[in-house]
Amino acid sequence: MKISILTITPEFFQGFLNTTIVKRAIDKGRCEIEIIDIKSYAHGSFRHIDDSPFGGGRGMVMRCQPIYDALQEICDEGSHKILLSPKGTTYTQSKARELSGKKHIVLVCGHYEGVDARVEEWMDEQLSIGDYVLTGGELAAEVITDSIVRLLDGVLREGSATEESHENGLLEYPQYTQPREFNGQSVPEILLSGHKAKIEEWRLTQSLLLTRKHRPDMFEKYGLSDKEKKLLEKADKE
Ligand code: ADE
Repeated sequence: MKISILTITPEFFQGFLNTTIVKRAIDKGRCEIEIIDIKSYAHGSFRHIDDSPFGGGRGMVMRCQPIYDALQEICDEGSHKILLSPKGTTYTQSKARELSGKKHIVLVCGHYEGVDARVEEWMDEQLSIGDYVLTGGELAAEVITDSIVRLLDGVLREGSATEESHENGLLEYPQYTQPREFNGQSVPEILLSGHKAKIEEWRLTQSLLLTRKHRPDMFEKYGLSDKEKKLLEKADKE
């Protein structure tokens, strides 16, 4: 797959492209990540990428021409174009899964007070990474790229990505490693028992308890099986 990121600050992505997972995916040929400087598509000697809003008001608005020209050059019918904006639909793990199946994703990073609204009409969708306002879409582009790339075949160890929080509608169970005892805190006895079925049951119970506590919204949507209801009842009594 290919991910093209349109930005006015290409230098922002230097460290990101050299980090472990993203770098591994690129090195293994699982994905290509292209950083495109919107400024290089701006016309005129001043290469203006922004201007004041029609009708007056605060700040500057990103002009549509450089974005249009960049999209014309890099997109074909198979390109899935996304504008990153606090006005977008909230990004989720299931959207990450959906996007990981696309051939070409184009992420347009908005800035300033916003982007000329005509750009929105050229997009397939607008995504927000949460209910807060960032200075620009670059951090959102990194978040989305990271979450997609780790789902591509051969990037993570087999199974690692499917047992995580959000993959099955529940948060992940707690994990422990050596030492067994640290600073008076010990690893739950069951994990040292070697009893596979009991460990599975304990992990499922912990996932249910954690999700109910930290994410009641997710818990409500999750359809509990009879077995899971019984596990919770038992845990509540303990
Ligand atoms: N740009 C500014 N804020 C954003 C957000 N929350 N998500 C995506 N892009 C943004």
